[in-house]
Amino acid sequence: PRVAAFATALHIPPAAKPVHQSATTDFYFVGVHEAEAEILPGVKSKVLTYDGKFPGATIHAKRGREVAVTYVNAMAESTVVHLHGAHVAAASDGHPTDLIKSGDQKQYRYPNTQQAASLWYHAHAHHSEAEQVYRGLAGMYLLHDEAERSLGLPEGEFDVPLLLRDVHIDAAGKLVYTAGGFEERRTLLVNGRVQPYFRVSARKYRLRFYNGSNERAYRLRLADTSSFQLIGSDGGLLPAPVTATSFDLWPGERVEAVIDFSRYPVGTQLVLFNDLGDVESTQQVMRFDVTRTATDDSRVPAVLRPLQDLGTPTVHREVELKLDLQRGAFVIDGRIFDPARVDQQIKLGTTEIWTIRNADTQPSIPHNLHLHLVQFQVLDRNGKPVGGHESGPKDTVTIPPGGNVRIKVRFDGHEGRYVYHCHMLDHSATGMMGQMEIKR
Ligand code: C2O
Ligand code: CU
Repeated sequence: PRVAAFATALHIPPAAKPVHQSATTDFYFVGVHEAEAEILPGVKSKVLTYDGKFPGATIHAKRGREVAVTYVNAMAESTVVHLHGAHVAAASDGHPTDLIKSGDQKQYRYPNTQQAASLWYHAHAHHSEAEQVYRGLAGMYLLHDEAERSLGLPEGEFDVPLLLRDVHIDAAGKLVYTAGGFEERRTLLVNGRVQPYFRVSARKYRLRFYNGSNERAYRLRLADTSSFQLIGSDGGLLPAPVTATSFDLWPGERVEAVIDFSRYPVGTQLVLFNDLGDVESTQQVMRFDVTRTATDDSRVPAVLRPLQDLGTPTVHREVELKLDLQRGAFVIDGRIFDPARVDQQIKLGTTEIWTIRNADTQPSIPHNLHLHLVQFQVLDRNGKPVGGHESGPKDTVTIPPGGNVRIKVRFDGHEGRYVYHCHMLDHSATGMMGQMEIKR
């Protein structure tokens, strides 16, 4: 259906409230169930939700303080909840076979020992992850820390998470999901609303862009192609801000930018464009309306957070991503995911280089690999160094058709079985996923 762009105000998901707080831990209790959401103005859509919210409430965590979330599965089907980007024990990671069956509940414990980062939680039961995320099972999780707070970046109402995704929604409000139905998903949502407007003050904002789409990538820029500063990536702050006029955002990735609206007169309306879109509904993401002047004592310091030293690599692995047309599945190293099989044996405390190849050239299919448990560093893509937000800690990286990417990664802190997979969720649902076992 044709929905007028910029007809709805940006929705900012509410902060989740703990049901209990102990000396060490914030406890949350979340029901997973179907509910109705108003995605198209005046129309109710059936969606899957965490506590009835679309997207889920935003969890705010503090480094060094544990978060424990109990999910109660009130859906007819099984689910799993994975905290994407988190450094957690295997039992709380949300392994795709670690199901919460219908009617059951499970508590996940997040130690929050890693640095401040824009994490997110989403459904991950193998085979149903793509459809459940598509139908709404996703929410944001902001991990804060003192070092970041002391930098003086925009905070509070000027620190805004934006979950971007596409959807195929019919006039009656029904979300249509077909595996591989990417071409029909031509309505863009930000925080669950179609192409919203956002009333901003003429000052700096920290915007945390999340790509929660199953397959769609974005190349984002402001209508006037003016510049802004990239400050963060998947796993937290960049070493230093990078001035840019656009950036790419692939499924699963996060990019944080500081945009200074003080250069615009009050009354300015500024569209956020997606240059990878092909029609207005997929090109116009949202609109910033500068509605008032403001004072601003926030800043973007020249040094943000040094990259962690991951040590010297001693192991080199190669991973190949490919569409297997004969089997009708996306595969890694020629294999469909099998939870009974370990694909990579990894020694705890080891630093490795992974060369990830995308063997798909014809038809042109990009893939983007996500590793659970870790934050890695991207060394190069097709032999060339990467820049922009990819200079920060990453957990998801895109590999162009026929291309390759090298990452450096250290496996530390937790033993057990974790997965790595393409974050095109329609791909991982068919089997584009492998298992690594980390052992002493
Ligand atoms: Cu965002 Cu294994 O997932
Ligand atoms: Cu893929």
